[in-house]
Amino acid sequence: MARILITSAIPYINGIKHLGNLVGSQLPADLYARYMRLQGNEVMFICATDEHGTPAELAAMNAGIPVAEYCAEMHQVQKRLGEGFRLSFDHFGRSSSGRNHQLTQHFAGRLADNGLIREVAEKQVYSKEDGRFLPDRYIEGTCPACGYERARGDQCENCTKQLDPTDLIDARSAVSGSADLELRATKHLYLKQSAFRERLEDWIETKFDWPVLTTSIAKKWLRDGDGLQDRGITRDLEWGIPVKKGVEDWPGMEGKVFYVWFDAPIEYIAATAEWADANGMPDSEWHRWWRTDLGADDVRYVQFMGKDNVPFHTLSFPTTILGSGEPWKLVDYIKSFNFLNYDGGQFSTSGQRGVFMDQALEILPPDYWRWWLLSHAPENSDSEFTWENFSDCVNKELADVLGNFVNRVVKFGMSKFGATVPGGGEWQEAEQFCAQTISQLVGAYSAHLDNIEIRKAARTLRAIWSTGNEYLQAAAPWSAIKTDPERAETIISFSLNLINLYGRISSPFIPDASAAILASMRSPSRAWPASAAEEMKALEPGHAYDPPDVLFRKISKEEVSIWKNEFAGGSKPDPD
Ligand code: 2FM
Ligand code: ZN
Repeated sequence: MARILITSAIPYINGIKHLGNLVGSQLPADLYARYMRLQGNEVMFICATDEHGTPAELAAMNAGIPVAEYCAEMHQVQKRLGEGFRLSFDHFGRSSSGRNHQLTQHFAGRLADNGLIREVAEKQVYSKEDGRFLPDRYIEGTCPACGYERARGDQCENCTKQLDPTDLIDARSAVSGSADLELRATKHLYLKQSAFRERLEDWIETKFDWPVLTTSIAKKWLRDGDGLQDRGITRDLEWGIPVKKGVEDWPGMEGKVFYVWFDAPIEYIAATAEWADANGMPDSEWHRWWRTDLGADDVRYVQFMGKDNVPFHTLSFPTTILGSGEPWKLVDYIKSFNFLNYDGGQFSTSGQRGVFMDQALEILPPDYWRWWLLSHAPENSDSEFTWENFSDCVNKELADVLGNFVNRVVKFGMSKFGATVPGGGEWQEAEQFCAQTISQLVGAYSAHLDNIEIRKAARTLRAIWSTGNEYLQAAAPWSAIKTDPERAETIISFSLNLINLYGRISSPFIPDASAAILASMRSPSRAWPASAAEEMKALEPGHAYDPPDVLFRKISKEEVSIWKNEFAGGSKPDPD
């Protein structure tokens, strides 16, 4: 039994995530966690909400409630939606937790002690009316390039030009609208990432088995020089983790907080501590996942994230870990993803374009989405959601192939032989061939899941389901029963065992349908089958079973056209 630590990139708190966000980290991480547990491993699967930074403050301001209250509410919403998609986190934490405050301040203190932090004096926009420094995104004005009147201090949403706040014409505060702004001197802490260039380069060079998407992004940032510039890790905001050196105050840093990207990955560790706290366990329980001197030396740590998060996880967070000089666990494998597009464009949160997690669950059960999203995971290139493709995939693969197989076998079996597995005779060539094919496919499926090759795993699982259908079609128990009832018994007995096997191995993709199958088969085991061939005899003659409810319903053309319209979004697509 191995010990596997799995983290999914932690979603920003500011609003409900769309399906593109979901398939970029949380969902594939769940697939892997489920598979690893099925294999009998000890798994710690961690996620959280990313609650600091400007977007959280802005969203709370728009909602008209205090930011702490906003985050508490949105955390619950995201947690419930995660449960709705059956994301099997061991803990879904909050980056605003006491544990994260403590650990973030601890890491900053260690980095400072090790000479890896320097103070930098800079000039920043200050709003007299608001009585605060304004981060770039809090400054609005007219874009000098296209004339768009609501461009932000970091970028124009309309023409995508990258901006400095001082570029804006008629700049004003996004908080109060005040134009009474000035440049004032302030000080910030910078993490000397550049000191780690060689160590990080050497480390990435050893990662031959990582996805090319991950290593190519990391190498590009290392090579370009830009990527490994020293990085500001403090901000002039109220909401966030106060800048401290361990438990001590940091002179000159009063009123400042850590930059959201400094504290967010530390939350992976903090959330594991939150898990231990929530379960009344001592610190040693989370230390054994994170401290290589306290039991984590045999842990395999796998991270999941979208490609935009890769630099922070291959350069910045490792710098924090290594720079602390303490034996914290470094990531062993980073699985990253391209983007999912929506029907000829991009998902857009502000334009409400595309399907969001809450909406998805309102119209269809989680397995439908899980299956499409995972089988189309944007692993090697961006992929695209279209309603036609989605409904085709659900109707053919889930309803026609898997659902129909289960339905036909159970209906026929029950009507002819009652609610128990029939006896029948020896396996014939058709059964031998089908069992052999499926054994091979299950081996390949398992190898793809071990390697986190999600599309390949989905394709192989689909082939496993189809093999059963082809077998049933050719064996035709409905004909056999007329001349050779024993033969029909053999076919149904074999097919019921296939159904049981499907229930066992499909759960990482479609946990609800798998659970329904296993419950109806009154399956004796839930674990990964040691041998697929053996498994095909697990349900013995006389074993009682119950009819399952319809596993999957079909999506109609009418629904497709309604949904296409409903989710097209109101405003212009923008990239988020
Ligand atoms: O891109 C995002 O959604 C970020 N909130 C991810 C943070 S991952 C990590 F560093 F914790
Ligand atoms: Zn512009």
